[in-house]
Amino acid sequence: MKRIAVLTSGGDAPGMNAAIRAVVRTGVMNGLEVYGVKGGYEGLINGNYIPLGTREVGGIMQHGGTFLGSARCLEFKTEEGQLQAIRNMTEAGIEALIVIGGNGSQTGNLALSKHGFPTVGIASTIDNDLVGSDTTIGVDTALNIALEAIDRLKTTASSHQRAFLVEVMGRNCGYLALQAAIAGGAEAVVVPEIETDPEKIATTLVSAYERGKSHAIVVVAEGAKYNATALAAYFEQHKDRLGFDLRMTIIGHVQRGGTPSAVDRILASRLGAAAVEQVVKGNFGNLVGIIKGDIALTPLQTAVGTKKPLDMSLFELADVLD
Ligand code: ADP
Ligand code: F6P
Repeated sequence: MKRIAVLTSGGDAPGMNAAIRAVVRTGVMNGLEVYGVKGGYEGLINGNYIPLGTREVGGIMQHGGTFLGSARCLEFKTEEGQLQAIRNMTEAGIEALIVIGGNGSQTGNLALSKHGFPTVGIASTIDNDLVGSDTTIGVDTALNIALEAIDRLKTTASSHQRAFLVEVMGRNCGYLALQAAIAGGAEAVVVPEIETDPEKIATTLVSAYERGKSHAIVVVAEGAKYNATALAAYFEQHKDRLGFDLRMTIIGHVQRGGTPSAVDRILASRLGAAAVEQVVKGNFGNLVGIIKGDIALTPLQTAVGTKKPLDMSLFELADVLD
């Protein structure tokens, strides 16, 4: 194995740069030439690569985003797009690919692997929806940003005796919402994995005021059926009966930006180095993640084909501690 490529795909995640840096530096140390693919799978289809040496990845670790760029690429979902990508890599002498990304990106990676191209995945998404990694690159930073927002909102909520709906990201997954609710001391949490009765949430908020609380916070995952907008509409419809003053904040992409935390930089560095180790061993078709603190390999098929369950004991904890 002489030449490999690395790309970042899907929603960017703080720490992706640290993973690229680790791939390049570990690769070079193992005598590999490493190419960076610009703009995710789009760059793979267009043959948009740049050679990366150890200097090219200096000074990037502390920056959010991904210096290679990322994209959502519809063409790559077609077999034609995937075969074009493989033809380009073969022509450029690229013998293996490392894909840094989340569930969708690793599904694309699996497609390349099924076509017989040697690939390795690195678990990176703020959603934390990949089986095969307890946590993924970007989750810690995103969680801390959500938490800071909740802490700030609590102060203004208390001053005005208000209730707040705080919506965090999480396309099909309530991980971020649940963690943020526990760490932020929220009164209620709404996740896509559990059916929500808006009236029950309303009762929880009313009871919080009755117990003498000066504010009430509901953390809502964007992917829930009753997201913040839907819940706000329900509360508005019943506002005379419920009697609390409500505001809504959608944190959105703020969670994906900014400086990666130490936890994310270290996780990304470990996963990047471990992915190259697999390339050197000639062991392909796996997602590299972290399980119980150790590097773990999971077949891509399992990583993307299985739904990651929500930890119900944490959901119960959030309920007890509100
Ligand atoms: P994430 O990796 O953050 O979950 P997406 O779901 O948007 O992000 O996926 C990123 C990219 O991965 C898509 O734009 C597409 O190019 C590729 N991809 C997603 N799903 C598939 C699929 N079923 N087959 C092939 N490629 C896919
Ligand atoms: O997959 C990561 C994520 O941030 C999800 O939480 C969110 O639903 C989605 O990406 C947003 O995508 P975009 O950046 O394309 O708006």
